[in-house]
Order: sequence, then C-alpha cells, then structure tokens
Amino acid sequence: MFGRSKQEITLNVAFCRDQFPAACWNWAFFENAGGSYVPHSVIKRLTDYMTECQVQPGGPFPSSQLAQQRMDEGHRNMAEMIGADVDEVVIGPSTSMNIDVLSRSLRPLWNEGDEVIVTNLNHEANSGPWRRLAETGIRVVEWPVNPETAQLDIDLLDRLLTDKTRLVAFPHVSNITGDINDVKTITRRVHEAGALVCVDGVAYAPHRFVDVKAWDADFYAFSLYKTYGPHIGLLYGKKGLLLEAKSRHHYFIPETATSYKMNPAGPQHEIIASLSGISDYITAVAGEHLDDAPNDLFARTRAVYDLFARHEADLAKIFIDWASNKDGIRLIGRETADADERAPTFSFVSEKKSSAEIAEAAANHKVGIRHGDFYAKRLVEALGISGEDGVVRCSMAHYNTLDEAKLLVETLDKVV
Ligand SMILES: Cc1ncc(COP(=O)(O)O)c(C=O)c1O
Repeated sequence: MFGRSKQEITLNVAFCRDQFPAACWNWAFFENAGGSYVPHSVIKRLTDYMTECQVQPGGPFPSSQLAQQRMDEGHRNMAEMIGADVDEVVIGPSTSMNIDVLSRSLRPLWNEGDEVIVTNLNHEANSGPWRRLAETGIRVVEWPVNPETAQLDIDLLDRLLTDKTRLVAFPHVSNITGDINDVKTITRRVHEAGALVCVDGVAYAPHRFVDVKAWDADFYAFSLYKTYGPHIGLLYGKKGLLLEAKSRHHYFIPETATSYKMNPAGPQHEIIASLSGISDYITAVAGEHLDDAPNDLFARTRAVYDLFARHEADLAKIFIDWASNKDGIRLIGRETADADERAPTFSFVSEKKSSAEIAEAAANHKVGIRHGDFYAKRLVEALGISGEDGVVRCSMAHYNTLDEAKLLVETLDKVV
C-alpha cells in the first residue's frame, strides 16, 4: 500500500473474511442489522478470559488482578474507539436496557409537565422508555416521520421544541430505512432550545465512524453485537450529565461511579474483557491496509471505517440499482448508495409477494434475509405497512463481497 493515497486504497475483503470463522461464509448473509459476525479475535479474548481468569475481578491475588486488567482494557478500548473518556462509557446488557436505565436515571431531574420528544422513526429501544415517562407526569410529544418518504423534517422539530422540552430521542440511522440523519445539526437545534439528545446509533455504528464529541451528542447508544463484538450494549454520556443522572444501582454505589451506577445488572465480566477483540480486529485491518497506521486507536478506527464505508457504497449500489429499476417494489428510504446519505440496510415491500414469502424463498438460494417490523413497529405502521408481515430487510456489512450482493439481487429478482 506504500505510496498510495488513502482514497486509492480499497478494502481487502478477503483479508477481513479470513479474520472470521470459515463457517460464516457458507451462506450469503444479509441479516447483519440483526447482529454481525464475530471475528476470531473476540472469540479468543473471550476464551482466554474464561480459561485464565475464572474468578471475581478486583481481588488481591494474581488471577483476580488479571481479570480486572482485562475488563478495564476492554472498557478502555471501546471508549478510545469513539474518542470518549472511560467514565463516559457505560457497558450494559443491551441498548434497550441501557436506554431504559437512562430514562429512569434522568426522570428525577425533571418536573411534572416537562416534555420529551420522541420520533416514530425509532426502534422501540429509544422510544418505549421515554414514552413510559408519561406515567410519571412527563408530556410525550411525537416527532412523526413523513409517511411517504420515511424522512424526518428538522423544521418540524423546531416547531415542537418548547422551553419545557428536556430531551429529544431519535435514531442516527433507522434499522428499517438505512438513512443517515444529520446528528450534528439536529443536536445543535435541540441544544439551542435548551434540551438534550439521546441518539440511537445502533444501525449506524457497524458502518460508519462514531465521533460523539464532533457531534456534541449528549447520549449515544449502540449495540456491540452489531459492531463485531459479543452480545452487549454501549451507552456514551457526557461526563457532567452522567454525574447528574441518578444512580440505578445499589444505594451505596457512589454517584461519581458513572459507568458502574448506570449498569444495575453489574458488569458482564468475560464479555467486557472480550471487547478488546473488536479493537484487535480494527487494528488488524488497519495494519493490512495502511503502512502508516495511526498509533492511536481513535484515528485507526476512523481510517478503517473510511475503508468500510467505501466498500459498503459499492455493495449498496448493486442493491439500489436493482431496487430502483424493479417494478412492483417499494423501497423504504433514500434511493441512493451515497455513503454519507445511507448505510447499506435496505427494506422493501413487494406488490406481488408477501415479505414472509420472499424471505423464505431467498433461504432456498442460501441467501439469509428476514422480514418483519424489526421492533420498529411504530415506523412500519406509520408507513402503512402491515405490522405482522412487515418489510423484507437486506442488510450488508463490510465483509460482504460484491459477488454476494449480486447473488442477493439475482435471487430477489427470481423470487419477488
Ligand atoms: C436501531 C436499533 N436500535 C436499538 C436496538 C436494540 O438493541 P439491543 O438489542 O441491544 O437492545 C436495535 C436492535 O435490533 C436496533 O436495530
């Protein structure tokens, strides 16, 4: 790669695939938005912890100290990857749980009659917990998507914000549409109105670089099992806000223990230790592609995600070319493969076949896709689509090949 500009370097997909168990590639897998594959590096970190540190962390003997060290390392690596401090990062059971805990921890700071704005573009994880605050006297205001385009209108948000708004909950990317929302602009407008944002980054983080500080996000959540890690979630919160939020843990856990107090489940030891396997993977991809791979993990991660984004745009183009030229298909979301505009997550409905029939037929061709509402039930219903059958969703990741994407559209062409 020496001597070539970063723009010229293309992702070595074969190298990436080699980092995962061979069985991953028996099928053309396009349900990545449900959960991504996990590389050997994560499996190794998990196995190492389970074989070498079978004790509670934090004790005065060597195996216990090693356990603590590895957990701290996993936590620190995740914070570094997104440019945050360790005590701004909560690792908890899932995004659904992390946001539920967050909503309960912020509620004591608000008064009856205060408002939260929630969009129906959200997955239920960033919707239900805020809506349930209505039971405690909070007024819930809906920021509806356009039912034709599934887009959010930022000017409409301006009209919904009042001096009572405390928080706005919206997704960076919808797990149905794949469209990328402008987090920086929305956050700025919300801040101007004196409120906070809680951004669901679950459908964004597997595809693009997460830069919470650049966006000035107050709270930003994503699920590490969709970013090549184990089944767990990450919640970023600005330090000052996490300090103010009321602990959901035991009464004797100090309010200053920001990461710990927001995970009443208690830390998931071996899983947190295995998170270093995600940064190992990023480092391996950086080493393969860049002669001058940056020393700091944050910059390395950015460089790798730039490579992912360019390859994903090529994959997306194959799908968009098919969907936009196919009669009887309603593609939900933007008709573009532009990496700044959308992630490679595509949903559609067909005039001729049910979504269930299409997903099942694709399986006969060794193409893994699914149908349904994917827990974005309010969105699917707002778009006038049957909640039960839902949409067909095809979601790609950087490790998919162009041939797999071609197989996907050829298969859909046959079965639709
Ligand atoms: C966009 C989005 N948000 C939130 C979630 C919930 O994540 P978790 O399973 O970690 O609760 C999902 C899961 O599919 C999702 O796709």
